[in-house]
Amino acid sequence: MQLQINILVGTMTGTAQLCAQEMELALDDGETRVATLMMDGLDSSVFEKERAGKGAFLICTSTYGQGDVPDNARALYEDLKSKRPDLSHVRYGVFGLGDRTYAETFNFGGKRFDDILTELGAKRIGERHAHDASSGILPEETALEWCQAWLAKVKEIQTA
Ligand SMILES: Cc1cc2nc3c(=O)[nH]c(=O)nc-3n(C[C@H](O)[C@H](O)[C@H](O)COP(=O)(O)O)c2cc1C
Repeated sequence: MQLQINILVGTMTGTAQLCAQEMELALDDGETRVATLMMDGLDSSVFEKERAGKGAFLICTSTYGQGDVPDNARALYEDLKSKRPDLSHVRYGVFGLGDRTYAETFNFGGKRFDDILTELGAKRIGERHAHDASSGILPEETALEWCQAWLAKVKEIQTA
């Protein structure tokens, strides 16, 4: 059975989108299908996708304001918090973007999604990645490496 990966993108100035595009290119092959969705206009029903099939979600989001999710991710995040659907069928990973200059709220965008998804019963695969814009390391390069290791873990779990 084909593995379906859905990348959900939260971004303000496009960096997370660039990372998602790189990850889609790297992961999409005959065996794995990747769909990248901007979070704009999404609500919690997006996680109904793949209920029957084999798949995983990859949250790729930056952080804004004072540790907030980006504007385009707000509706999805708030809908999860208010509707609180049972997401025990969901497997996910988090590639977060932030900047350590914001020491108190570093990578809180990714952390907020990680926390709410776990609260709702979803299971995270692998560790949440927290990219630091002030490190000088290009996020799209890290994303490429990180997503390949992440997909290997998804495959291990889904075929077990
Ligand atoms: C106004 C503003 C507020 C930010 N607030 C935070 C923050 O609270 N925590 C954090 O880790 N990064 C913060 N960042 C850094 C961004 O998350 C980081 O630059 C990221 O790579 C931007 O990705 P994007 O282009 O996908 O939105 C902030 C950046 C800006 C411009």
